[in-house]
Amino acid sequence: MLVVGNWKMHGDWGSNAQRLQALHQQWVAQPSVTLAVCVPSPYLGQAQQALQHGVVAWGAQDVSAHAGGAYTGEVSAAMLADFGTRYVLVGHSERRQYHGETSEHVAAKAQAALHAGITPIVCVGESLAQRQAQQTEAVVLSQLGAVLEALGEQALAMVLAYEPIWSIGTGQTATAEQAQAVHAVLRTRLRQHGAATVPLLYGGSVNPSNVAGLLAQPDINGALVGGASLKADDFLAIGQAALSAAAL
Ligand code: PGA
Repeated sequence: MLVVGNWKMHGDWGSNAQRLQALHQQWVAQPSVTLAVCVPSPYLGQAQQALQHGVVAWGAQDVSAHAGGAYTGEVSAAMLADFGTRYVLVGHSERRQYHGETSEHVAAKAQAALHAGITPIVCVGESLAQRQAQQTEAVVLSQLGAVLEALGEQALAMVLAYEPIWSIGTGQTATAEQAQAVHAVLRTRLRQHGAATVPLLYGGSVNPSNVAGLLAQPDINGALVGGASLKADDFLAIGQAALSAAAL
């Protein structure tokens, strides 16, 4: 199981320090569950300082597809790696929506991350309109397909997160059955690619009270947590729920 916090563009030096310290002090090494936080890039050094002697991993929320050069404002995977970054989100719906990232662009970012030894957490998910038009499967398969094509055998080293857009930050979680149905489709596609072992996370309004039902599903191997990862107690409670689910 993998539980990843996505702080998005939240936090500041002081509140980060408290949250990171709480995670560092309270999360005990567990073979069955990895806990990680994806912080805004300027705070990667702070996360590294706070977490490097413990078991909580840290990650970034985006990465450039380019290795280096005249790309003002971008941050390369090698730069992220300099701060001990283990994970990076790629293709979060907010990047696709507000920054026009295409699935091909997302695939190139995943490739860049792997090249630097960082695990990309590739995010896929449909909008409400697409779900209502019965396009959920087609949308997520096309988003995943572009990444599989670009990565080839390296796809084994990625993590995949299913995040229905209508569920992100809305308090409207997909039901465990809705989430499992999409995860099963994704798993089948991964299996066809020889990558059935890729961890599949669910994201979208995950909180301490709904996480157990989601993690009890056979094809859900963890959670990508936005809002609830900003409260250390809630995030730790989600980690504990993953421990219980992994023990079943
Ligand atoms: P949320 O965000 O948990 O606040 O819905 C999840 C995400 O966007 O990764």
